[in-house]
Amino acid sequence: MSATTGSFSIGDTTVTMPVKTGSIGPSVVDIGKLYASTGMFTYDPGFTSTASCESSITYIDGDEGVLLYRGYPIDQIAEQGDFLETAYLLLYGELPSPTQKKDFDYRITRHTMVHEQMARFFQGLRRDSHPMAVLCASVGALSAFYHDSTDISDPKQRMVASFRLIGKMPTLAAMAYKYSLGQPFIYPKNDLDYSSNFLRMCYAVPCEDYKISSVFARALDRIFILHADHEQNASTSTVRLAGSSGANPFACIAAGVACLWGPAHGGANEAALKMLMEIGTVENIPKFIARAKDKNDPFRLMGFGHRVYKNYDPRAKIMQRTCYEVLNELGIKDSPLLEVAMALEKIALSDEYFIEKKLYPNIDFYSGITLKAMGFPVSMFTVLFAVARTAGWIAQWKEMIEDPSQKIGRPRQLYVGAPKRDYVPISARA
Ligand code: SDX
Repeated sequence: MSATTGSFSIGDTTVTMPVKTGSIGPSVVDIGKLYASTGMFTYDPGFTSTASCESSITYIDGDEGVLLYRGYPIDQIAEQGDFLETAYLLLYGELPSPTQKKDFDYRITRHTMVHEQMARFFQGLRRDSHPMAVLCASVGALSAFYHDSTDISDPKQRMVASFRLIGKMPTLAAMAYKYSLGQPFIYPKNDLDYSSNFLRMCYAVPCEDYKISSVFARALDRIFILHADHEQNASTSTVRLAGSSGANPFACIAAGVACLWGPAHGGANEAALKMLMEIGTVENIPKFIARAKDKNDPFRLMGFGHRVYKNYDPRAKIMQRTCYEVLNELGIKDSPLLEVAMALEKIALSDEYFIEKKLYPNIDFYSGITLKAMGFPVSMFTVLFAVARTAGWIAQWKEMIEDPSQKIGRPRQLYVGAPKRDYVPISARA
């Protein structure tokens, strides 16, 4: 990594800061010593121009619409790999050898069962709870069941906790779904691959065999790959910040789940599908486009726009293709939702407002249609996102914990409140 310096003046003070250059992408100005040398902070509330860490895991070029996992393009991984191979790549930095892949699959698979008492944990929640509320609660509770893998200073415990989280997320997600239906929980089966196991835990019932659709299993596995990691997004930054205090990995991932739930982030897939259902027909699209452009209307086109992508989200293209495959498998030729989505995309991409603001469909625009066609209720969409993103969250958490320069994250502020003033006893107040 080459380093040079950059200077800038504040009043009559000239400040020189080191500039660090990575392997690809924008260089960074290391402002670590800015406060000490100027008594001033930088100010960047949405972190639009702020790099929070060094990372080797995922690279995004927003202008070119490029997404690389450890250097490999997302479309190549999605087409040729599987989700557990992607999890291995994100965790360890290289594609596994056949032996490594077999061993990793074996070990993750044998962590898919959860402590039997967790079944009773769910009983404390209402059946009509949102599955994301159930997932937040149950992931946080894992640290109450697996405290033998919460010592983050022990590499072995860090690895066991990582495997437990990747292995158990689908099981907890399926349990949240079954609980909402009032159906019995279905145990994982070790002779099934990751996505087939998840489909069976969601859709099988004790009274009959469940036939797993290989097209659905492949489509779901690809959806998991697309959602696995995405640089320093809001939920990953939450996991890193929680981890920087030394919190155990189960608590950190629960924090990531909570952040992902927001409709501006992972909750957008649920919001996007609800929006398409509310639009209903192609004729209604202009009304919604007008609302999205109206500064006085808080409505935004869900599934559109991105903090980093100012081009088509590469994942959205693969998501659209997967959507066609699933609808094809179901023999659905004319899905009204897909018709509205494609017309909406066409109209928005030719509209001056969206062109000028570089708003393109993101991963959440087509994922909802696909998941709904596969039988998942809208409330489960962000849960599936969380299952997939656990691989990325854990990889990013591991990278941070193993970084010798890591310290607790503690931002400062621009204070705009009351200057110092004396307390007024209540007897002297009006
Ligand atoms: C994910 O960060 C990641 O990597 C996230 C993610 C991941 O994998 O982790 O990719 C997953 O979260 C994808 C994004 C899902 N969210 C949505 O689809 C919700 C709808 N999108 C918007 O809320 C918005 O685009 C954001 C939150 C995604 C990005 O917001 P930014 O970068 O903060 O941009 P902005 O809000 O400042 O918008 C810039 C302008 C604004 O207009 P002006 O104030 O400049 O006049 O574009 C407008 C916005 O009003 N705008 C939109 C819009 N998105 C932005 N206008 C209408 N519809 C939209 N969708």
